[in-house]
Amino acid sequence: MVAVFTNVFTTAFRIIQVVLEAFLALGWLILNGAKAAMGGGIATFATSAGAQRRVFAILRAFVPNFTLNKVLMKAYDNTGTAVVSRRVDVLDVLNRNDDFEVVYGTRMRKLTEGENFFLGMQPGWDYTRDTSAMRLAARMDDVSNIVLPRATERASDIVKASGGKIDIVPALTLEVPWDMTATYFGAGGERNAMQEWTTDLFWYLFEDLPADPELDAKAMKYAGELRDYLDGLIKDRKANPTDAEDILNRCLALQSADTPGMSDLGIRNNMLGILIGAIPTISKACCLALDELLNRPDALATAHKAALAGDDALLAMHIWEALRFNPHNPVIYRRATRDAIVGRSTLRQRTIKKGQIVFAGTASAQFDRYDIPTPNQFRTDRPFEDYIIWGYGMHNCFGAAINAAVIPAILKPLLAQKNLRRAAGAAGQIDGGGTPHPQHFHVEFDT
Ligand code: HEM
Repeated sequence: MVAVFTNVFTTAFRIIQVVLEAFLALGWLILNGAKAAMGGGIATFATSAGAQRRVFAILRAFVPNFTLNKVLMKAYDNTGTAVVSRRVDVLDVLNRNDDFEVVYGTRMRKLTEGENFFLGMQPGWDYTRDTSAMRLAARMDDVSNIVLPRATERASDIVKASGGKIDIVPALTLEVPWDMTATYFGAGGERNAMQEWTTDLFWYLFEDLPADPELDAKAMKYAGELRDYLDGLIKDRKANPTDAEDILNRCLALQSADTPGMSDLGIRNNMLGILIGAIPTISKACCLALDELLNRPDALATAHKAALAGDDALLAMHIWEALRFNPHNPVIYRRATRDAIVGRSTLRQRTIKKGQIVFAGTASAQFDRYDIPTPNQFRTDRPFEDYIIWGYGMHNCFGAAINAAVIPAILKPLLAQKNLRRAAGAAGQIDGGGTPHPQHFHVEFDT
């Protein structure tokens, strides 16, 4: 009985906290929005992680789930928009594959000029065939045996050679994942071309809300070049076999054993998909995490200590927490396959109509006070399950184990430096050059 009263009290208290937090968020948005508008930077402000976080705080308090007839996402067919912001509903949407389907298939097929890639597939044989084969080719213990030692060495050499001034995007955060595709995937190609292909194709698949025709044309050109490169590479590797422990050789070994999905075309399409997933994502996540740490002197100082002490677990917790505040992808898209209810039997129950795109607010879910303790505090003691950094459910990131090792490996040698700081002026801020992906980010440290 006492427990019931305690629960009623704590629930009421939590609701009051959530509502107060929403009013504070509104005040913050008005004040900082006005300042940004006067300085001419309202667009940057509106898309900033800080503004998005406050908008989600207001939604969670007053309209946790809502739908609009308006089509906001033009890249994939849909009949309107739904936004889901409470953690429990976000996870529910990402778990209900039959009600909420992945949308990417149409653009994936344009990139392969034919078949879908497994991120664009619903549950079924094709998905099981491709993910099973690719998981045999890219084994989890490769991360500690092959990927991590190489990334650690590359990152450390690059930071050492920088002399205390470094534009981390071209020099480090794109370089190390590209090097991984060259040495571990066996499919790095020409460095600049591969970085450009994968970055623009990622943008086209996941970030092109307005369906920009110029980007479409560029994506078709780059996809053709990437396909030609991969077709040539597979042909060449078959003609001139190597004994490298890389994903391409593993795929060819699976082909020799008649493994389903591992035809030349199957290998090419799977390689194309994982290449697009690998380079721009790791680079952007590194930049966003570092940007957030540089904004937080206390966290930067403890991350520096952890890097110096070789406390890799603590260092990684700083990075995941930084990415909670400054996320790589604040939402994940799905589309309702039929009228589907979210938040059933609660005050936030809504029916999402067949055909509506659902923005599942993964960034919001990580700040939901009903499930995440002291969500607005930067803490390094959260269980990893609190984070939704690279997806959730069936389509959770194929590269999860790689990300968990490589992102800290890239940032560690930088964070270990004395007096790590932004370069002066605009150079010390992330520059996307008009794209959703960092192109430059200059930092300095004492040598
Ligand atoms: C920080 C780095 C990364 C981030 C933030 C990230 C993010 C994500 C997210 C959010 C999803 C789920 C998409 C959805 O459900 O709609 C996903 C899936 C996927 N990612 Fe990553 N990713 C990263 C790195 C990588 C790497 C290194 C690879 C390749 C080795 C990769 C390959 C994939 C693939 C193939 C899927 C589809 C998985 C499936 O459908 O089962 N990603 N990623």
